[in-house]
Amino acid sequence: MAATGHDGPMTDARWQDADNYLAEQLVEDDKALRSALEDSQAAGLPAIAVSPLQGKFLYILARLIGARRVLEVGTLGGYSAIWMGRALGPQGRLVSLEVSPEHARVARANLARAGLGEVAEVIVGPALVSLPKVLEQAGPASFDLTFIDADKTNNAGYWEWALRLTRPGGAIVVDNVVRDGEVANAASTDSAVIGSRQVIEAMGAAPAAVATALQTVGLKGYDGFAIALVSGPDGTA
Ligand SMILES: C[S@@+](CC[C@H](N)C(=O)[O-])C[C@H]1O[C@@H](n2cnc3c(N)ncnc32)[C@H](O)[C@@H]1O
Repeated sequence: MAATGHDGPMTDARWQDADNYLAEQLVEDDKALRSALEDSQAAGLPAIAVSPLQGKFLYILARLIGARRVLEVGTLGGYSAIWMGRALGPQGRLVSLEVSPEHARVARANLARAGLGEVAEVIVGPALVSLPKVLEQAGPASFDLTFIDADKTNNAGYWEWALRLTRPGGAIVVDNVVRDGEVANAASTDSAVIGSRQVIEAMGAAPAAVATALQTVGLKGYDGFAIALVSGPDGTA
C-alpha cells in the first residue's frame, strides 16, 4: 500500500521506520511486555496487538483521566491490558473480555508475569454475552476507561454497553475504525468496515458523549481510532 504525502509518495516502509524510531526514543524496553508478545507468538496468537506506541498512548490516557477501573473488549495475549493495567495502581481493576479460551490462557499468564494477576480479570466468552454480566456485577458507570478492540462487526453493540458502563467524565476508545480509509466507503460489503461505520455513526449521534476520531499510520499500516468523552445526561461530564 502507498499513500501520497506532501513530499511525495509515503510508503508503508516510511511509516514503519518512523514508528520504530519513535518507539526507540519514547518506549523503554520492557521485559514483561516483550515476553507477552513473544509468548503470544509462540502460542500461535495472531500479531494484532496494539503497537508499543499505541499501548503507551493508552497508558498515558488512563493516567490522564486518573483511571482506576478499566474495561477492555478483546484481550488477545494481554498486551494492551498490561499497558492499561500498569496505569491503575495497586487498587486498580481491569476487566478484559475475550472469546477465545486459548487467548485468555496466554493473556492471564502474561498479566501475571507483569505483576497484574491481582489487578486484571479475563472473562472468557462472546463479549456481547459477558457485558450484561459485567453490568450486573460492577454496576452502571463503574469504569473510567473502556477500550473496544475485538471483532469489529459488533462494534456498535460494544459501544452501547460501553456507554452504560463508563462513568461521566470517562473515556471510550474504539480501535481500528479507519481500515485503510474504507470507513468512508458507504458501499463496502466488508463486515468490519460496516461495523466501523456503524460505531462512528452511533458515536456521532450519541447525546451522552462527545467524540472524535484520528487517522494513524505506522507499524499497523493505515488505520485509526475513535475516542469519546462520556458526559452526563445533561451534556456535562
Ligand atoms: C485485536 S485483538 C485484541 C488485541 C488486544 N487488545 C491488544 O492490543 O493486545 C481482538 C481480540 O478479540 C477477540 N474477539 C473476537 N471476537 C470476540 C467476541 N465476540 N467477544 C470477545 N472477544 C472477541 C479475539 O479473539 C482477539 O483475541
